[in-house]
Amino acid sequence: EGNDGYDISSLLKETGNVTLDVGFVNTASCESDITYIDGDQGILRYRGYPIEQLAEKSSFVEVCYLLIYGELPSENELEEFEAKIRRHTMLHEDLKAFFNGFPRDAHPMPVLSSAVSALGTFYQDLDPFDPEQVENSTIRLLAKLPTIAAYAHKKSLGQPFLYPDNSLTLTENFLRMTFGFPAEPYELDPEIVKALDQLFILHADHEQNCSTSTVRLVGSSQATLYNSISAGIHALSGPLHGGANQAVLEMLTKIKNAEYDTDTFMKKVKDKEDGVKLMGFGHRVYKSYDPRAAIVKETAHTVLEKMGSDELMEIAMKLEEIALADDYFVERKLYPNVDFYTGLIYTAMGFQPKMFTVLFAIGRLPGWIAQWREMINDPKTKIGRPRQIYTGYTERDYVALDQR
Ligand code: ACO
Repeated sequence: EGNDGYDISSLLKETGNVTLDVGFVNTASCESDITYIDGDQGILRYRGYPIEQLAEKSSFVEVCYLLIYGELPSENELEEFEAKIRRHTMLHEDLKAFFNGFPRDAHPMPVLSSAVSALGTFYQDLDPFDPEQVENSTIRLLAKLPTIAAYAHKKSLGQPFLYPDNSLTLTENFLRMTFGFPAEPYELDPEIVKALDQLFILHADHEQNCSTSTVRLVGSSQATLYNSISAGIHALSGPLHGGANQAVLEMLTKIKNAEYDTDTFMKKVKDKEDGVKLMGFGHRVYKSYDPRAAIVKETAHTVLEKMGSDELMEIAMKLEEIALADDYFVERKLYPNVDFYTGLIYTAMGFQPKMFTVLFAIGRLPGWIAQWREMINDPKTKIGRPRQIYTGYTERDYVALDQR
């Protein structure tokens, strides 16, 4: 009764071959010059530059330029690019009104994606094939997303918004708008600024991950850059992608509050009890180690030493130690990913867990934009349209309502 199995003959007739690749584990969707990953050797490069060098020597705005335009900027080019971003950090006063329409306890991710969609109603730079309009929307997004994110944070706390201070860099401005108060001086800590800037760099691109593929897929229908990025933000919000660091922190807090100890927790994970996972471990591509995780672990030590609160860090290190010596994790090539430590750093900096994914979105934005621009300029681009293997009923006759 019911399902008759599957029939791929019509698909074979149309296409000559059929590939079923659930989760796109082994399917490339595009050619790209932007980011190189070697998952076995733990290599990540943006436009050929190793992530370790960029994290140490570059700035987030410089990395935005590199990803989007393909080369490191000259001094003049960087200055001009930074000046353009500074000029566009303000939000239209009517857009600001949006924030009052959301409930105070709203998660900032849907607030962020809604505000990004709304940008497309305030500005008319919407034509994906007009380079000047694409350039304008690129700058607007880079400049305004940190302001939107800071407003979402302030809204959730019921605190007044702060206008951007355009004498500051993008990361400094974001910290001030997030943690400062009107008419009160806000003292920036250079070590915290550097750490956050570096975290943005580490998240800036990661080739065809779930959110980036979403941005490309939506953009392949020639939807606007604003709408494509808004869709990417939604894709990033899931716990298996950008939401992982919030989940890591919740997991560590449960252990700290003695809901269960590390050994009982690890047993639950290995027994797959109620689908419990060691959050912040495993990666679809990295099967030796995530090169970003090594850098982040260092930063976690620096920031936590400075700001205190290292009890959760100790639990995290203990979980990592157990996992790295355990056959379950070794056999499955499960290592810490970038998000295993980022939640701890963000907490020490003063961010609420709800904001973690928002920080990821600010970091990932230049990657999404670079990938969207590459897609739209590639003459080989076609609208993304996967096929399926149909497993439902074969043809059957309609049954009248009174006979069912
Ligand atoms: N804890 C316990 N077991 C795990 C974990 C984990 N974190 N990750 C994978 N496994 C197990 C799976 O249960 C599976 O076991 P099985 O072979 O017995 O069935 C095996 O390892 C392979 O896992 P898959 O889920 O098939 O791997 P996939 O590549 O599809 O998933 C993912 C990768 C989603 C990252 C996964 O490892 C995961 O859920 N990790 C936790 C969430 C997380 O940290 N996400 C952040 C990703 S990085 C980022 O977005 C920046």
